[in-house]
Amino acid sequence: MRLKDKVAIITGSGSGLGRASALLFAKEGAKVVVADIVPVDGEETVRRIRGNGGDAVFAQVDVTKGADCENMVKVAVEKYGKLDIMFNNAGILGAAGPIARITEEQWNQVISVNLTGVFLGTKYAIPEMLQRGGGAIINTASVGGIIPTRFGAPYCTTKAAVIQLTKATALDYAARNIRANCILPGVMETPFLSKMGGGPDRIEQYRQIALRSEPIGRFGQPEEVAQVALFLASDEASFVTGSAVAVDGGMLLV
Ligand SMILES: NC(=O)c1ccc[n+]([C@@H]2O[C@H](COP(=O)([O-])OP(=O)(O)OC[C@H]3O[C@@H](n4cnc5c(N)ncnc54)[C@H](O)[C@@H]3O)[C@@H](O)[C@H]2O)c1
Repeated sequence: MRLKDKVAIITGSGSGLGRASALLFAKEGAKVVVADIVPVDGEETVRRIRGNGGDAVFAQVDVTKGADCENMVKVAVEKYGKLDIMFNNAGILGAAGPIARITEEQWNQVISVNLTGVFLGTKYAIPEMLQRGGGAIINTASVGGIIPTRFGAPYCTTKAAVIQLTKATALDYAARNIRANCILPGVMETPFLSKMGGGPDRIEQYRQIALRSEPIGRFGQPEEVAQVALFLASDEASFVTGSAVAVDGGMLLV
């Protein structure tokens, strides 16, 4: 029960890394606001948590919209009385291709979800955390924020910015007991890659390239990110702030 009596919001918890984290946080005693843009997926996460005897509620949110982010914090406070943990995890791969072929619209879409979404989640969580004397913010960046992938400029740029936004948040609020850290997943076994477009052959080709770049020789499992998020969210990480933790099977070593 490492998160006993804590209240957490996890964006993008209708799938993949967010869902695994929501299930683990709830198992460890947290009350979880499952926040996602896709209701059917978010509701399914809530159903699984309740099925395990945990406590969770769904909030539909488009993280690109300030009003939605403000509302998900309200849901946490109205339903559970406070907010201790904000896990800004929702993200998209978006358009891939050489920069000159990326349209303005495609660029703006990736920036809105992956970067503005983290900013808005952080912005609306902080006042509530300050009221209760502190909190923990976790952001999902990526190894792509350190090493760019070919034709992945929009995605990699947003993830590099999320690392810096995390550090800036940590610095601004360190003295007020709000910690901010980010996780840099390598290639994980989630539905994320299948949303890439280009058909199954292209996706399989990308998966094989990615696999070769992970020295550990396999893809990561969502639970392996969830375990690190759990530590960063818990009081065990009380002196950890401004960190970017790679969960990547050694991908950044090569
Ligand atoms: N899977 C990987 O290999 C990998 C690697 C590095 C980083 N990441 C990052 O991990 C995070 C989670 O990815 P995942 O693999 O679980 O992907 P996923 O596609 O399985 O889950 C992403 C979730 O985010 C939700 N979402 C998308 N846009 C949203 C929006 N505007 N508002 C609210 N919710 C929205 C989706 O509905 C989905 O439930 C992302 O930030 C991603 O960039 C993933």
